[in-house]
Amino acid sequence: MFSFSKKDQVTGEVAERQLDEQNIPAHIAIIMDGNGRWAQQRHLPRIAGHKQGMNTVKTVAKAASHLGVKVLTLYAFSTENWKRPTAEVNYLMKLPVDFFGTFVPDLIKNNIRVKVMGYTDQLPAATQKAVRDAIADTADCTGMVLNFALNYGGRAEIVTAVQKLAQQVQAGTLTPDEIDDAAIDQQLMTQDLGELRDPDLLIRTSGEERLSNFMLWQVAYSEFVFTQQHWPDFDQTALEEAIYEYQQRHRRYGGLAPEPTTK
Ligand code: FPP
Repeated sequence: MFSFSKKDQVTGEVAERQLDEQNIPAHIAIIMDGNGRWAQQRHLPRIAGHKQGMNTVKTVAKAASHLGVKVLTLYAFSTENWKRPTAEVNYLMKLPVDFFGTFVPDLIKNNIRVKVMGYTDQLPAATQKAVRDAIADTADCTGMVLNFALNYGGRAEIVTAVQKLAQQVQAGTLTPDEIDDAAIDQQLMTQDLGELRDPDLLIRTSGEERLSNFMLWQVAYSEFVFTQQHWPDFDQTALEEAIYEYQQRHRRYGGLAPEPTTK
């Protein structure tokens, strides 16, 4: 059992909570939202929020790994984020360079392996290199997979998968009847995660309750937890609270009888 303290925001009362170690979600995906609002509240430029958000990534990655999470997927840059002002996009493209430049030794110490999903060939050369190096440097780590969604979009991912399947049909190596869930899974960017490809728990920070084109196929049966904190304020306790909420849910996968939440 992992225990943590939860403080009631209204009454100030502190309650001790216990997490069931046997029911830690194997794959957690997070939409890290609210960097801009966090900065705005402090009269800081938006990029200050992204910088603090990067530090939160470090904290949360280590916390998730210690709790026994097997895959942590983080939505760092969407295929739609290119619409932001150039200076902000440039800063967001530099973040992986800073992050991996300073954090890879810590990742290795924590046995965390880096993976990236997204259209990485469209990223600036320095960002691509930082990503490639981090993947190579952590390739022998056998613990949690820290999976960054970088220049990722759920619809684009599905379009690409459909195109590949259509090419196989055209080439005569696949018949339309053979296209099933598994065939589609095989063409998605989560394919190499095997049985862990679908998030058990999806968290979105900062109060918005939408998917914003994130892992549209893979979240079919995920539990969603929305928190009010802006991403830079998210921490180990917030992660534990989200897992606690997940552990109160009964996952039924479309069936009737309640099933245990472990897969
Ligand atoms: C959403 O907040 C956040 C992003 C688009 C960027 C997320 C990036 C990080 C948290 C840092 C990632 C770190 C690495 C290592 C790649 P927002 O800017 O939309 O916030 P707002 O809705 O309050 O404006």
